[in-house]
Amino acid sequence: MGRLDGRVAIVTGGAKGIGKVYCEGLAAEGARVCVADIADGSEVAAAIAAKYGADRGFAVTFDVSSERDVEGLVASVVARYGKIDVLVNNAAVFSTLQPTEPWEIDVALWDRVMAVNVRGPFLMVKHAAPHMITAKYGKIINIASGTAYRGIPHMAHYVTSKGAMLGFTRALSRDLGKHGIRVNTLAPGLIMSDSIMANTEHIDEMRDAVIAARSIKRDGHPEDLIGALVFLASGESDFVAGQTLAVCGGTTST
Ligand SMILES: NC(=O)c1ccc[n+]([C@@H]2O[C@H](COP(=O)([O-])OP(=O)(O)OC[C@H]3O[C@@H](n4cnc5c(N)ncnc54)[C@H](O)[C@@H]3O)[C@@H](O)[C@H]2O)c1
Repeated sequence: MGRLDGRVAIVTGGAKGIGKVYCEGLAAEGARVCVADIADGSEVAAAIAAKYGADRGFAVTFDVSSERDVEGLVASVVARYGKIDVLVNNAAVFSTLQPTEPWEIDVALWDRVMAVNVRGPFLMVKHAAPHMITAKYGKIINIASGTAYRGIPHMAHYVTSKGAMLGFTRALSRDLGKHGIRVNTLAPGLIMSDSIMANTEHIDEMRDAVIAARSIKRDGHPEDLIGALVFLASGESDFVAGQTLAVCGGTTST
């Protein structure tokens, strides 16, 4: 028996990188999973369906920064599965960002990072939470980053957007807890996702320093996040709200 048997989950940014592993991890625990991404997630959904059953995964291509797209995504999940139990706000402009001095960040790029990384999670909550309120149950997991605690150079747009997730979680937790919705943050440290590994030039520069700052002195992998994700998505964390769980080998204490 899985810890998420009967649950319906949406993972934004689920087509690749860490999000793809989140989708697989939730499905392995019994959840039906919507792989929602601006990229094509049909292969991830097909792999889940092949392994766990035809109704266990489907993909929706959407832009999380567009309210119309978010409304369409939520409607398609509810039409297909009848409810939303778990929302993982994982989609972000991240691995495509080039390190840039703050004064050289293009204003349009700054706005795009905020539109995807901050407005996106808000839009998802705006449209998914009413279904959770009706069901008097829900789990919202906002994906932040250890960088929001430490700051890192040359990523002011990204770090600012991830800092916003910490306040967003705390505020939502107050508003939604009385409706049975638990809102928490998962804050990964540097994780060797396939997107990150595709950009090895910048990674190689920081990898040794990142590992040296950890208590657990090794690389982090997407699979390292699954225990915490499933905990926050399942009934095991039903008395946990407004918290940040940092999964970073001990670099950051929240
Ligand atoms: N890899 C790390 O070291 C690390 C560390 C801390 C936090 N994180 C966070 O984990 C999450 C996943 O990171 P990743 O390493 O897999 O990088 P990634 O860049 O591959 O993940 C982003 C995902 O979001 C999707 N996406 C981007 N814009 C979108 C949009 N407008 N609408 C819908 N989907 C969109 C992308 O297609 C991609 O699948 C991000 O929120 C990131 O900030 C990653």
